[in-house]
Amino acid sequence: MKPLALLAVLAAMFALTAPAAPTYNKDIAPILYQNCAGCHRPGEVAPFPLLSYQDTGKRAALIASVTKARVMPPWKAEPGYGDFRDVRRLTDEQIALIQQWASSGAPEGAGPKPTPPHFTDGWQLGQPDRIVTIPTKFSVPAGGPDVYRCFVIPLNLDKDTYIGAMEFRAGSRRTVHHALVFADPRGQGRKLAAGSPDGGYTCFGSPGFAGGLIGGWAPGITPRKPVAGFATTLEKGTDLVVQIHYHPSGAPAEDQSSLGLFYSDPPTHGRALVLVATRDIDIPPGDSHYVVKVSRTLAADAQVIGITPHAHYLCKDMKVNAYLPDGSVKPLIWIKDWDFNWQGAYTYATPVKLPKGTRVELEYTYDNSEGNPHNPAHPPVRVTYGEQTTNEMGLAFLSLAFPTPADAISFQRAMFLAR
Ligand code: HEC
Repeated sequence: MKPLALLAVLAAMFALTAPAAPTYNKDIAPILYQNCAGCHRPGEVAPFPLLSYQDTGKRAALIASVTKARVMPPWKAEPGYGDFRDVRRLTDEQIALIQQWASSGAPEGAGPKPTPPHFTDGWQLGQPDRIVTIPTKFSVPAGGPDVYRCFVIPLNLDKDTYIGAMEFRAGSRRTVHHALVFADPRGQGRKLAAGSPDGGYTCFGSPGFAGGLIGGWAPGITPRKPVAGFATTLEKGTDLVVQIHYHPSGAPAEDQSSLGLFYSDPPTHGRALVLVATRDIDIPPGDSHYVVKVSRTLAADAQVIGITPHAHYLCKDMKVNAYLPDGSVKPLIWIKDWDFNWQGAYTYATPVKLPKGTRVELEYTYDNSEGNPHNPAHPPVRVTYGEQTTNEMGLAFLSLAFPTPADAISFQRAMFLAR
């Protein structure tokens, strides 16, 4: 056979066996239902729904470009650096399929229309034992800068109480960007909120006191079911302080977010938080590659169950590595394009075991140049450590688990003595 004829035969075979262009009904809807609809549905944080062909076909090009760039679904942790639960990441095949679909004219396809997933509008974890809300309806302005407000929720606990799970429900889903829940056993939040008509006060970063972070929420987060043996202990008299980050949506809104508490038995396992952090931050204006490094050494064996990295607007790259005493390195997380608007608490699929003597080091890089689109200052200005939006921070919380509460206490004592 002549080469050209062979080519023709091959081309004909290929045409016969080549798969038809992907269609919305068969190929695309399942991907979007699984990975996008949680946020892209009415009443949720995303600006438009992605539930039907009508929602989706006209946006095919935009969907193809944001998925290819991995801007959507939002997920910051780089694969291969920490193995996390509830990963929001499309596979290369899914991205290719969306590209193919968009470039072949985004066909709807024949066949039955796909059925959108059913979402529970109520509490995802079932009926809470106790529901509390922020004290008043908070007015979120239509525009202007983001608002960071701490609300004090008095629990009036007459005895120590154990919380197995917590579920946050944003009142105004279009404006609540994220929430952090702190335990306040000494009533410090009440003092900061004294005299305020809405029971809250302005706060950014921390709640204004050294409070224990016990929970958080961001759009798209799956609330954590209770885990047998683990619980957060709230001492008698503890208040909750909820910090809410509001992002004005273009229309005035009112928010009265609530929190469902699920009680549990006293914990049989121990928990502790280790903070790896530095205040040594002083970034000259225009510096596009300012590196901060700090580490802490574990004073006893520990298992890391989660990690929460935190910085403000200028940070662009975050790496946290564990250097084990045997010389090996375990990457705990790497975020290559940190975005303050998408901070999250990352939970490991299986706890990471770190022996006594492991050095946990964070290495964060900041870009204080005009080229950083997140830079709030034009022209750039000197930025130092602090808790205001115009300051920077560099920290990571490691959430650790221990066989018993006594182990957690002796770990904390050993860490304290090592300081
Ligand atoms: C965790 C919530 C969440 C998930 C999951 C999510 N989105 Fe989004 N999406 C948003 C939000 C919020 C915005 C508005 C822009 C912003 O705040 O970053 C947005 C914006 C968009 C935009 C508009 C971008 C622009 O430049 O105007 C597109 C397109 C989009 N999302 C597609 C998707 C697709 C496709 C998926 C799934 C593969 C997805 N999103 C998953 C929250 C989400």
